[in-house]
Amino acid sequence: MGILRLSHVDITVPDLDLAKAYYTGVMGMDLTEETPDRAFFKCWDEEDHHSLAVRYDPRVGMDRFAFKVDHEDDLAEMERKVETYGFHVQRISHGEEVGQGESIRFETPSGHEMELVFDVEKVGGRTGKLNPEIPVDLLGIAPPRMDHLLINAEEVGEAAKFYMDVLGFRMTEQLVGGDGHQIGVWMERSHSPHDLAVVNGTNGALHHFAFWLDDWDHVRRSADILAYNAIQIDVGPTRHGVTRGNTIYFFDPMGTRNEVFTGGYRPDPDFPTITWTEDNIGQAVFYYEGEVNDRFVSVHT
Ligand SMILES: [Fe+2]
Repeated sequence: MGILRLSHVDITVPDLDLAKAYYTGVMGMDLTEETPDRAFFKCWDEEDHHSLAVRYDPRVGMDRFAFKVDHEDDLAEMERKVETYGFHVQRISHGEEVGQGESIRFETPSGHEMELVFDVEKVGGRTGKLNPEIPVDLLGIAPPRMDHLLINAEEVGEAAKFYMDVLGFRMTEQLVGGDGHQIGVWMERSHSPHDLAVVNGTNGALHHFAFWLDDWDHVRRSADILAYNAIQIDVGPTRHGVTRGNTIYFFDPMGTRNEVFTGGYRPDPDFPTITWTEDNIGQAVFYYEGEVNDRFVSVHT
């Protein structure tokens, strides 16, 4: 019961054609639907209608992020909890939003619009479910699925408390300052190192969303594809101290930061939280480099 995993991220882009070219040709996602001002994409091994939606807007940003719940009753339960916490909940009925049924939307303490969905249109993965073969005709990076997102908040502790106390996220790791306040919090629902993370920054902002890759070899090949397509790499390939994952950060041509990610541990619900101290922030974020570049800290959308 409760939240299963990330469902989709809705971002804004100033150039729909460029977004379509990049997310299909370089990232290798499938375009599942288009409207005059939006485009919807999924990864090849995802079953649901979309994991990324882009909407035309002159300003690069994020409309909302959505998590999927296990059971229809979870929506009413979460609606009650969010309203008890003091936030207004908006019901989205079937047919109102492309590719999904009944859902709820609300603003979170970090100033983000969050959505919880249960009923999502199934369009199916590339391989089918009967004696599936490994696809060999994939274009670009072609991650099998979306993995997690990282958002910014001015008050990280207050933001994380909402996601944990109200929505049931479990904290795997935290980065704390000298006075004990939280600078970063990593949380999971899907027994992965993180499904959602919050780091200090502007309320309502997106730092990045990340695609899952199966192994380090795929990370290396992704770097080749990014370089070939002249995509601006932010950091990597490298490894995180937090999550222990392997990673590359890069920017889509409109300016939203993407990540490819693999590895890490598998936390059970009784996983004890790992704590990093601010004096080790370099190693926590980029384990090999031991330092964080200014762009990584200051640029978000
Ligand atoms: Fe990430």
